[in-house]
Amino acid sequence: MSSESFENLSYEDRTFPPSDSFVKNANAKSDIYQEADADRLAFWEKQANRLHWDTKWSQVVDWQLPFAKWFIGGKLNASYNCLDRHVLEGRGDRVAFHFEGEPGDTQTITYKQLLSEVCKTTNALIELGIKQGDRVAIYMPMIPQAAIAMLACARLGAMHSVVFGGFSADSLLSRIQDADASLVITADGGYRKGSAFALKTAVDEALKGETNVKNVLVVKRTGQEVRWGEKDIWWHEIVDKQSDQHSPEFFDSENGLFILYTSGTTAKPKGIFHTTGGYLTQAAFTHHAVFDLKAESDVYWCTADIGWITGHSYVVYGPLINGATQVMYEGTPDTPTKGRIFELIEKYKVSVLYTAPTLIRTWMKWGDEYPNKSDLSSLRLLGSVGEPINPEAWMWYREVIGNNNCPIVDTWWQTETGAIMISPLPGVTATKPGSAMKPLPGISTQVVDDEGKAVGNGRGGYLVLNQPWPSMMRGIWKEPERYKETYWSRFNNLYFAGDGAKLDKDGAIWLLGRVDDVMNVSGHRISTTEVESALVSHEAVAEAAVVGANDEMTGQGIVAFVILRGGIAAASGEVLVKQLRDHVAKEIGPIAKPRQIMVVAELPKTRSGKIMRRLLRDVAENRAVGDSTTLADPNVMKLISEGLKSGKSED
Ligand code: PRX
Repeated sequence: MSSESFENLSYEDRTFPPSDSFVKNANAKSDIYQEADADRLAFWEKQANRLHWDTKWSQVVDWQLPFAKWFIGGKLNASYNCLDRHVLEGRGDRVAFHFEGEPGDTQTITYKQLLSEVCKTTNALIELGIKQGDRVAIYMPMIPQAAIAMLACARLGAMHSVVFGGFSADSLLSRIQDADASLVITADGGYRKGSAFALKTAVDEALKGETNVKNVLVVKRTGQEVRWGEKDIWWHEIVDKQSDQHSPEFFDSENGLFILYTSGTTAKPKGIFHTTGGYLTQAAFTHHAVFDLKAESDVYWCTADIGWITGHSYVVYGPLINGATQVMYEGTPDTPTKGRIFELIEKYKVSVLYTAPTLIRTWMKWGDEYPNKSDLSSLRLLGSVGEPINPEAWMWYREVIGNNNCPIVDTWWQTETGAIMISPLPGVTATKPGSAMKPLPGISTQVVDDEGKAVGNGRGGYLVLNQPWPSMMRGIWKEPERYKETYWSRFNNLYFAGDGAKLDKDGAIWLLGRVDDVMNVSGHRISTTEVESALVSHEAVAEAAVVGANDEMTGQGIVAFVILRGGIAAASGEVLVKQLRDHVAKEIGPIAKPRQIMVVAELPKTRSGKIMRRLLRDVAENRAVGDSTTLADPNVMKLISEGLKSGKSED
């Protein structure tokens, strides 16, 4: 990102302070910042006391940059904190999940019932030989068993590796192999856009590769036909017969809780590795403070899929530790109508909604008539996550969904940070539309220049974190050097998040998107290199360059430039473009399908052979092409602009 784009943000002068009554009843009051500043570690110890510890820690943090340990010597069980504690303390009859399947089937699951299902599943995992430290891959639709499976792994001290159900068999296989998972938990399929999609088939396909998977545990969700092999076991056949009692063991605070793969700047996804005590502390604290959760009266709904970090921290761990009542929805927002989400808000009287800018912009496009058809008056707080939210979408969210009555928390964080890092506090902060405002209490951020020096207000630069935090990743699974190199080498002693940011004249933080080769498509992280290597794995492609171009709806859209191989009889024009898009979907998953593929004769390269993506982005965004004087062949851009054969499709 050029310094020019850091600086060109127009100034936003609207501010929205919380109402007096919100301020009065807020979980987090303004003095919380001073409290954390006065003694950061004491502050985090106090937050750790939100959890049940079987043995208390003897040391708060051990920081050997870049490796942190938190609450050392403490012992706890994640699943006990999410479930048993509530039941033992008399909250067993509280609803944990109002589940709504896409076809309209529903389940109401209390904390007591959830505990009993998790215990049965844990006992089934024990029967299958799973023990502390093992890795379990979870590849599921958004159904209660997905959360149950995660909690059963956690209960045993085994690590889950959830793979988003939209990823392809190839992506699933590489994740199973990297984590060396011994069990896969999946479903026959799930419901999406009005029909059943298959998951088990993709697992079968993946397991043709070399793995150490001993069993595949399959939830029957859709009843579709599945192939059955000797490793396969139906969930209902092994889980239902188990005892609903399981007394949990308490594990070390630094026991592994999960691995979650995310895209980086290379083709190989990174296994982001999180442990227990620090992660749960920050997930629980932020959920309490940022969403102002009143467990007895709120109905909370985070629309994220459990395949992403948001689903881990703000559907499973944070809310359950805090005893929240939640809505869980399996399907897409447009099925059967574009008002589905709003109908569910009315039906379950949702009071706290946490969703993504891409969905908010989609709602804006569909029109106000859909939200206006439902009674949304139960809402009292709105959240946003995953990408920068543009001020227009922020204002629309506030006015049309929140009836000008709900604070908006724009929360910045990452798979790597584990929990929210920058966000308004809803009962404290006067928010500005489009700004995530400032770091939470106990968190320390900076915006720095190329040399790593903090910039002043009114200036832009790179967002870094300059103090360890409890829920920080503990590393990249099996790749400590890559961890150091990726996050800690750009600036001395600072964690570089990969995002550009600007401080406005009041010091509020405005996120400006990624500065590396990572794209953000509808809040999903996809690496340009990953898509490029998928493209060149197709027989017709010699070389590919991929850029993320601005997209009104999805934030960024994937645009690919490909050079075809000579001598291979490729399909022509639109047919080829369709083949290539499908090929990427097969290699990575439908979310990585390029929006547009352009066949070109040359790519713009510097004399050292580096592709100048900046110029390609100009083409992709229909702009005049910028300075191309450093190109090895200055004519290339002219050729590209003139000779474009574009293929665009809407799905
Ligand atoms: O670029 C930032 C963007 O999403 C990236 C992290 O992606 P992921 O690990 O998939 O986690 C997404 C959900 C936490 C960040 O580096 N991002 C996330 N939240 C925001 C954001 N960009 C701007 N504003 C946000 N609120």
